Amino acid sequence: MPNSSLPPNVQARLEALTEQFIRGVEQFLGYPCNARFDYRPLYPFLSYPLNNAGDPFIDTHNRLNTHDIERQVVYFFAELFHARREAIWGYVTGGGTEGNLYGLFLGREQYPEGIVYYSEDSHYSIPKILKLLRMRQRQIKSTASGEMDYGDLARALNGRRDAPAIVLANIGTTMKGAVDDLERIHAVFESLSLRDYHIHADAAFHGMILPFVDRPPVFDFQAGIDSIAVSGHKMLGAPVPCGVVLAKKVHVRRIARMVEYVGSLDSTIPGSRSGLTPLMLWYAIETLGRDGFRALTAHCLETAEYAVERFNGVGISAWRNPHSPIVVFPRMAEPVLRRWQIAVHAETAHLVTVGHVEKRHIDTFLEEILNHESDHPGHP
Ligand SMILES: Cc1ncc(COP(=O)(O)O)c(C=O)c1O
Repeated sequence: MPNSSLPPNVQARLEALTEQFIRGVEQFLGYPCNARFDYRPLYPFLSYPLNNAGDPFIDTHNRLNTHDIERQVVYFFAELFHARREAIWGYVTGGGTEGNLYGLFLGREQYPEGIVYYSEDSHYSIPKILKLLRMRQRQIKSTASGEMDYGDLARALNGRRDAPAIVLANIGTTMKGAVDDLERIHAVFESLSLRDYHIHADAAFHGMILPFVDRPPVFDFQAGIDSIAVSGHKMLGAPVPCGVVLAKKVHVRRIARMVEYVGSLDSTIPGSRSGLTPLMLWYAIETLGRDGFRALTAHCLETAEYAVERFNGVGISAWRNPHSPIVVFPRMAEPVLRRWQIAVHAETAHLVTVGHVEKRHIDTFLEEILNHESDHPGHP
């Protein structure tokens, strides 16, 4: 918080930023970032130069780290995603993108000649990651709901039976919250007698939702994936972007190298890594627990359903995929969408009912859309 002993220009700048963020959070409807969290008990840890460089499962020369806490976080997610502790490895990343980079990197190291298959509804960072890794790739069509078109996947795989397949499965797409069906993906492999494949699950947002709903689709290690990425700042909420990546140990062994300088295995993508973000995730896990996450998920899904009903009630067609707090509706009323920080893609817009979004936000947003339309008939 700004403090009166600061130079006036610094003080003024910090106050302006605080104002901007207080107002910004009130109209933060378009992105899957929960703004409701309270990490105040962790503030004292901002005073140490924490650095989690290296493998969290190996003690390093540097004692100013939270590796033991990070291991607990990894084990929490391992259990959530039905992985056996002995068979799994993971670390706290800087977010979903880094986790996807890691998973696809492991896929490439297993199958350097493999081709990556991912749906056109995948996150915009996937083609960039594939370019970085110089991997061969084939984009697969999506259905209207945002899910992978398995017929197109089968045709694409059938045309390249000579090459191993690396499939990026979306466990909740960015715009529509669609979940690719791992059983159907496996059925395609089976029908083509394809034996050499690697599956990475991009569960950036819905990875912290599906474990807390009744009768979720199988999407994790139980369903035969090799690695999975989830973001920490999305559903849980955090002031610093973060995430977790988990992978089968057998894949990580292929890439890990001993580094004398840090006295650890170099099994992560970055060198220096945050010591604070594992602490935040651990704190959220310990204070909310599975019951808290279940209640949070129920709140988000109830608010999403409320939004769908309210929109449809005034004649705006809105819908959502099962178990998703992403509400999809037609792109409209640009100034209102901008004010509420709504994400758009072509003719589609969405709002995301994460933890801080209440029914009153939906009501005000809708009221503004309707007022705009009555003031500017026929104009977006
Ligand atoms: C499906 C999906 N994958 C990956 C990402 C990227 O995650 P991050 O922003 O944590 O890097 C997102 C972000 O919205 C996403 O929705």
